[in-house]
Amino acid sequence: MSLEPKPSDKFTFGLWTVGWQARDPFGDATRDALDPVRTVNELASRGAYGVTFHDDDLIPFGSNDADRQAHITRFKKALADTGMKVPMATTNLFTHPVFKDGAFTSNDRDIRRYSIAKVMRNIELAVDLGAETYVCWGGREGAESDGAKDAYVALERMRDAFNVLSQFVIDKGYKIKFALEPKPNEPRGDIFLPTIGHAIAFINSLDHPELVGVNPEVGHEQMAGLNFVHGIAQALFHKKLFHIDLNGQHGPKYDQDLVFGHGDLKSAFFLVDLLETYKYDGPKHFDYKPVRTEDDKGVWVSASANMRTYKLLQERALAFRADPRVQAAMKESRIDQLAIPTLAKGETWKDIADPSFDVEAAGERGMGYELIDQLAIEHLMGVKA
Ligand code: GCO
Ligand code: MN
Ligand code: MN
Repeated sequence: MSLEPKPSDKFTFGLWTVGWQARDPFGDATRDALDPVRTVNELASRGAYGVTFHDDDLIPFGSNDADRQAHITRFKKALADTGMKVPMATTNLFTHPVFKDGAFTSNDRDIRRYSIAKVMRNIELAVDLGAETYVCWGGREGAESDGAKDAYVALERMRDAFNVLSQFVIDKGYKIKFALEPKPNEPRGDIFLPTIGHAIAFINSLDHPELVGVNPEVGHEQMAGLNFVHGIAQALFHKKLFHIDLNGQHGPKYDQDLVFGHGDLKSAFFLVDLLETYKYDGPKHFDYKPVRTEDDKGVWVSASANMRTYKLLQERALAFRADPRVQAAMKESRIDQLAIPTLAKGETWKDIADPSFDVEAAGERGMGYELIDQLAIEHLMGVKA
């Protein structure tokens, strides 16, 4: 299996990822801005499939119509020259001071209406570029004080926004779906729809739930101390995994946005295993930030690192599944038994109301998971059998 990334691997990157100038709350930028055209060329030459963008990554906020068009034209040319795709786009609803109290959930109604309009304008461009997914990350939708927001009505206003946007894409005949990106905090003290589970429950309250799914990010669930692999399994279970943001995080702390696998590597291994098992065929989108210490050369090293790590994990996960020792250990652990429905066809609660089985003996059965875990670690470390 070749470790060389190819467009068929569907690896994508946000313009804002490699383009991050490494400005943080304590320090100035350490890198120059990147021209989106150069980003397209650099990523294409490294085997990526496509790029994604916030409206303001491509067209600086406040540009007039002529400038906007000029930015779009040269970006389109770069895409055509390289064959790079734009499978997803999103909106910046967090940088300008107008969004300081949120966009769709700002207390100010004029700001809420402006925010939806900003999204609609960029959806037009996204559709024109061929995008099928529109990500909505509500970074400023939240509060620092529970006295600042009525969190119940904030969800009503969030619902208004998605109902309006859904009607917009239906009326326009666009084949684009929304993917909500949960995050527990940062930049707001607490953000609404903080986890995959919250987002999926919220989607059920919408007029067009079929148009809305999730875009979970590795680090965001881990910031909340949650198991990302389980979160993705649940998103797949509900058929809501419309997109995914891959990166790395070391547990509950600030959003690190490290290279994929450069945080919890074991979780990354089981994530790739899950995505391969369930044949996730959407883009594998890296939403990371090259660490602030890196210069331009380091940026491109880190871009390749994301793709290579995914491919290595893919290779190791497939070898893990194919290993006869793993298969035997899984059988011993009755992992295959979980796939059998608890009641057989035609059975009802009456058939199990009085189970005559040996509770004590069943309670004594060992599960044998330690062996499976160790075999996973050995595959991950590249230990040959
Ligand atoms: C984060 C988020 C953002 C969003 C992006 C899309 O790291 O806090 O992942 O990067 O994904 O802005 O809107
Ligand atoms: Mn993040
Ligand atoms: Mn993200």
